[in-house]
Amino acid sequence: MIDLYASKIRSLTVRDRLRILERTGGADFSSNDYLALSNSKALADLVVQGLEQGVPVGASGSRLLRGHHEEHELLEEEAARFFGAARMLYFGSGYAANLAVLSTLPQAGDLILHDALVHASAHDGMRASRAEIRSVAHNDADAFEAAIKQWRFAGHAGRPWLVVESLYSMDGDCAPLEALVDIADRYQAFLIVDEAHATGVYGSEGRGLASAWEGRENIITIHTCGKALGSLGALVGAHSVLCEYLINRARPFIYATAPPPIQAYTVRHALRLIREEPQRRLKLLEQVTATHSLFRQKFGHSPSETQILPVMIGDDRRAVELSRQLVEAGFDIRAIRPPTVPARTARLRITLTLNVDAKTTGDMLSCLADLLEKAI
Ligand SMILES: Cc1ncc(COP(=O)(O)O)c(C=O)c1O
Repeated sequence: MIDLYASKIRSLTVRDRLRILERTGGADFSSNDYLALSNSKALADLVVQGLEQGVPVGASGSRLLRGHHEEHELLEEEAARFFGAARMLYFGSGYAANLAVLSTLPQAGDLILHDALVHASAHDGMRASRAEIRSVAHNDADAFEAAIKQWRFAGHAGRPWLVVESLYSMDGDCAPLEALVDIADRYQAFLIVDEAHATGVYGSEGRGLASAWEGRENIITIHTCGKALGSLGALVGAHSVLCEYLINRARPFIYATAPPPIQAYTVRHALRLIREEPQRRLKLLEQVTATHSLFRQKFGHSPSETQILPVMIGDDRRAVELSRQLVEAGFDIRAIRPPTVPARTARLRITLTLNVDAKTTGDMLSCLADLLEKAI
């Protein structure tokens, strides 16, 4: 009975695509814990206070049944005020949020245009929707516009939906949001912006890169809480009618146990820390600037302008081998291979977080330079 799976695993091994679970170790150049909140005393102390006040550790049911708790409401209200959204809904993960939004809001007869590099969770949501789906060249706003024009020219009357990430998780580059908002306005389209890697880091007070447009009727945002916010879950920001529709129709929201109230409490307090203690975000941004300039000194160029630095390797095996050597040297840097990224673009994904100091980052870049030179 298991032969089929064993042979599929062998095939992954032969193609250098086998994944195994590895414990973390070494300096953190791979997590999304950008502000080092996940293991911070500041957030842990607040969670202890919440537990002492009796905030439950489990929700005990769906939000539509007995699982709906005051803490969910408090988080959604406070977060909507912080991000400037008309209303927010809290989901148990960014994966569930993307699945819910994309499988529920676009209707049959609509067109979903997604950037070629959007996250797997967006793909899964789109696949579950009844709208037509088309991929658009990465970060090419003109291509989005051309695709809408072509679709309209073919006689379609439905609604276009543009789907992007504000900061791409595997490439570290940013979407041309201003141009996309303009296209969405001109073509009566909705724009869905996954802010997963920008929330807490970029935009005024860490509100994300789409913060200037958050709250508009045609903008939907997804702010994940398991990255810079150091916790778990995702807040979807949208017009209150769309949130009401999600509550009534989004299967990942309806048919799942609600996130634990203590988790909602944790996210609410993480947002407070980000707002009240901007020094974390400012320190990370300084670190990002300094690392890029060091990167340019060593390699002649910098692979991005953000806290996510993809070092393109191409070959899967070589990427895995380089990652192994870096881990052995004490630097936790993972190889990212297809199908997570397109074929022949295996890479080392380096992330910058407050878990690592400037000296360690310098040492890591020297080690990387030596390894890349040897590998030539
Ligand atoms: C862009 C993007 N969206 C969504 C997700 C999913 O979020 P979560 O990990 O909270 O399920 C991720 C996680 O890696 C991501 O990078």
